[in-house]
Amino acid sequence: MNVRIAPSLLSADFGALACAAAECEAAGAEYLHFDVMDGRFVPPITFGSAVVRALRSSSKAVFDVHLMVEAPERFVEEFAAAGAQIITVHAEATVHLQRTLASIRAVGARAGVALNPATSLSAIENVLDDVDLVLVMTVNPGFGGQTFIPAMVSKIASAAAMLEKCGREIDLEVDGGISAETARVVCRAGANVLVAGSALYGHPEGVAMRIAALRKAALGGP
Ligand code: DX5
Ligand code: ZN
Repeated sequence: MNVRIAPSLLSADFGALACAAAECEAAGAEYLHFDVMDGRFVPPITFGSAVVRALRSSSKAVFDVHLMVEAPERFVEEFAAAGAQIITVHAEATVHLQRTLASIRAVGARAGVALNPATSLSAIENVLDDVDLVLVMTVNPGFGGQTFIPAMVSKIASAAAMLEKCGREIDLEVDGGISAETARVVCRAGANVLVAGSALYGHPEGVAMRIAALRKAALGGP
C-alpha cells in the first residue's frame, strides 16, 4: 500500500516553521499539513494563508490545508493562490458542501472533505463526485496531542469501502492521535494518508526518525 505521511505543523515551533517544513521534506514526508483554525469552528486561532504562502518556497511537499473554519468557502481562493494543493473543508462548517467542493477544484486544487467524529459518512455520500480526499477526524478537531477515538476504526473501514465502491481514486486521510501504534490499525482499516503532530515533534530522536517509525508501523513493520 502507498501510505503518505502528512506532518502537522501545529506541533512544530511556530518561530521556525520554514526549518520545520524543510526538515519534513528531507525526511521524506510527502505532504505538509496546515491546521487553519478560526476561533469559531474550533476554539483556537492558528494562522491564515500568509503562512502557507511564506512556506511555499521552503518545500516541494504537497501542501495539505485543513480548514477548521466556519464558512470555509470564503477562503478557498486565497489559500489556493498561496500554494495549497489540497484544500479540505469540514462538512459541518459549510451549508452548500457540493458548491464549496466544486469551488476548490475550480481554482486548481484537490478538494477534501473532513468529518468530525460524530458526523456520519452519509454527510458525503451524495457529493463524492466532487471529492479527491476524505479526512476522517480521529479526535475532535481543535488541538494537538489528543487521544485517538477507537470507534473511528470502523468508520475508517466503512469510508474505505464507500470510496472503493465509487471506483475513483480518493485519498482517505486520518487526523488526530496518530502514532506508530494507531497508524497500523488505521492503515489496516484502509487509510492511506496519515496526519501526525505530537507523535513527530518534541521527541529526543527527532522528526526524521519519528517519520520513519510511523511509516514502518503503517506498512506493518515491527
Ligand atoms: C487537530 C488537528 C490535527 C492535529 C493533530 O484538530 O487537525 O492536525 O495537529 O495532532 P496530533 O497528531 O497531536 O493528534
Ligand atoms: Zn488537521
